[in-house]
Amino acid sequence: MDFALIGGTGIENLALDDRTEETVETPYGFVPLAEGFIGGIGMVFLKRHGAKHTYPPHLINYRANIWALKKIGVKKILSTGAVGSLSEAYRIGDIVLPDQFLDFTKSRAATFFEDGEQGVLHVDVSEPYCPDVRNHIIEGAARSGLNVKNGGVYVCTEGPRFETPAEINMFRMLGGHLVGMTGVPEVVLARELGMCYATMALVTNQAAGIKKDPLTHAEVIATMDLLSKTVAALVESTCKI
Ligand code: HPA
Repeated sequence: MDFALIGGTGIENLALDDRTEETVETPYGFVPLAEGFIGGIGMVFLKRHGAKHTYPPHLINYRANIWALKKIGVKKILSTGAVGSLSEAYRIGDIVLPDQFLDFTKSRAATFFEDGEQGVLHVDVSEPYCPDVRNHIIEGAARSGLNVKNGGVYVCTEGPRFETPAEINMFRMLGGHLVGMTGVPEVVLARELGMCYATMALVTNQAAGIKKDPLTHAEVIATMDLLSKTVAALVESTCKI
């Protein structure tokens, strides 16, 4: 199947018609996938944090996930990810299609090209998020009367802790708009394997320090619950294009 959705926190129960499950073997480990249909269109669904949401952002097997999708023939990937907002322009409940990222991850395997066999690859990420998939989402949103913001700089942190207000200040000064923990290296690995990748950043909270009270995972989940139906509708209208 051409199209896959990688579901992040809160988007882990996508309703697929004629759902089948399979486990794909990769050089990096086994990956459970679901296949099925949305609005009559076949697609693959992968839970980023594992079948039981057991992998925190820094321990997700990003390489296995992307390799598995490539292995079964996926060409286009849409993903979701919860984010905090650093900017007045992005509000809780917004769905944003980032067009750039800043990488503040620290300990993740970030390339397939490191054991010498395939040589060294310096992949181009001038345009990290595929304009094709992003345009599909925008068209899908317009058709269904849903609101999506196009463009924004996604800052990826290592997690699993939230950020300090000083870090958030720094990210703002560097031009960041949204902060999450899972977007990198996923986007880069997809590019390395020649797959078209875009992400829907789902704004669940104001980032640390902007919001005056401490951040909790519970508020992230609560907003995701509210957003999950909209995301499903967006995926369906995107699939139909
Ligand atoms: N920071 C990092 N990751 C997140 C946040 C945040 O504020 N909200 C949801 N995921």
